[in-house]
Amino acid sequence: MTDSKKSPSKSVAKKIDAARRELKTATAPRTERQLLLCVDRKTAECASRSSMTTSWKYLKKRTKELKLSRVSGLWRVPCYCLGVCVGGPIAVVLPDNCWYGHCTPQVIERILKEHIIGGTVVSEYVISPKQLEK
Ligand code: FES
Repeated sequence: MTDSKKSPSKSVAKKIDAARRELKTATAPRTERQLLLCVDRKTAECASRSSMTTSWKYLKKRTKELKLSRVSGLWRVPCYCLGVCVGGPIAVVLPDNCWYGHCTPQVIERILKEHIIGGTVVSEYVISPKQLEK
């Protein structure tokens, strides 16, 4: 048996059990979609720091107003670099694996209303090959 197939120690198993119990009551399992937005202000390569901040603030405000939350099915997540680093702010909707560029407040508004609520991708701002092929 290799090390990677060994069972976790008792203390690790106890922690895993605690995490399992916690996840049952947490809101994450009820989340149908996640909207990750690059707000990597440290590197700020895909967009300026100010546009990342503006977009993130807008996303927070609008998801509250539209009552889009972890409980209702959307988990918005600020994240570090998503690896695209140009044409941002960059966002990705999961599990659709639909990537967007130039996520200004106006584009975020469309993503929320058309993609998240309406189920239709905002093709003008899509950057992921899978959605571009359609
Ligand atoms: S810095 Fe935003 S995707 Fe890399």
